[in-house]
Amino acid sequence: MSDRAILTADPGAGYRALREEIDKAIRSVLDGPGYILGEAVSRFESDFAGYVGVHHGVGVNNGTDAIHLALRALDIGPGDEVITVSHTAVATVAAVGMAGAVPVLADVDPVTRTIDPAAVKDLITPRTKAIIAVHLYGQPADLDALLLLCERHGLTLVEDCAQAHGARWKGATVGSFGRLATFSFYPTKNLGAIGDAGMVVTNDSVLAARLRLLRQYGWEKPQYSIIEGWNSRMDPLQAAILSVKLNHLEAHTARRRALAGWYKEQLRGLPIVLPVEGEHCTHVYHLYVIELQDHTTRNALRAFLAERGIIAGIHYEFGVHEQPAYRDRLRKGSMTVTERLARTVLSLPLYPELTELEQRHVSDTVRSFFTLHP
Ligand SMILES: Cc1ncc(COP(=O)(O)O)c(C=O)c1O
Repeated sequence: MSDRAILTADPGAGYRALREEIDKAIRSVLDGPGYILGEAVSRFESDFAGYVGVHHGVGVNNGTDAIHLALRALDIGPGDEVITVSHTAVATVAAVGMAGAVPVLADVDPVTRTIDPAAVKDLITPRTKAIIAVHLYGQPADLDALLLLCERHGLTLVEDCAQAHGARWKGATVGSFGRLATFSFYPTKNLGAIGDAGMVVTNDSVLAARLRLLRQYGWEKPQYSIIEGWNSRMDPLQAAILSVKLNHLEAHTARRRALAGWYKEQLRGLPIVLPVEGEHCTHVYHLYVIELQDHTTRNALRAFLAERGIIAGIHYEFGVHEQPAYRDRLRKGSMTVTERLARTVLSLPLYPELTELEQRHVSDTVRSFFTLHP
């Protein structure tokens, strides 16, 4: 075992494993001619949209902008409500605010940890316009139930796929169910850039065209704005890197699933709740999140691992509704599961380059914690 710490995610290891291919792709962009949008971006847009199984991809600067611009493209703004979860990256909720709309927060299902459709139903009002389903940790939300709710109440489904590249619901890739779906390529994601990047995908050519305007000042042609827009262009260096990594995504997903399978075998019998792969779901294990019996045990295990060079993460330590910027400001349903998870979850190291030896060492160290603290 090396002396280096074992991290929750290790994008540097991802780069080193593909260094030659990535360096070559970077050089091809450096050679020009242009450094804004261009061929590298359009190639990645069409390859990634094809991978998801939809017609259009619009590359943007990051996953937060992808959600923000998706809502703008749908004309969702001031006075409109968007239902999503509190148990997510702050970005999901922040993006709703960026569009000028009002986020409304629903609890998550205790088993799958994704948005609970029954909780969503109770929060729908005449002002509700959309549901953002976050496929958290790599696990698809219950898309059948959410699509049914949308149909019954005239709502739009937006999928936040930031943590779920390649995850499947009933065999189809997530991102192909919502009217629009958004991705982040933040470096630690299952498909990660070496910096910021994001994308909105859709089958709707009108929405795709609108998104292309919104990401660049509303320009119909250079220096000519037909609607108000922003600057959220995908960087061609990142697009070139992502094109290389996209070729390895299926192999990386298989590796993530194998690592998750080994954790499951090795951690069996301990007082831990292990991740459950929901019915109809193909989980891509962006994170391997276990639940401990209480807050004290979670923190003690995390410290025990850190002392032994194993860095476990917490996703997320606070529900969005518990954070100072949002506390007491947002309408929400019961937050019982969200608040319990915030106190008890722990993300064990999992990334494609994690070796079997390292993974075994993490399991053994977790096991030894429970031997010492029965
Ligand atoms: C669920 C979720 N949504 C949105 C985002 C925002 O992505 P980005 O960091 O690329 O803005 C992230 C990543 O941080 C995320 O995990």
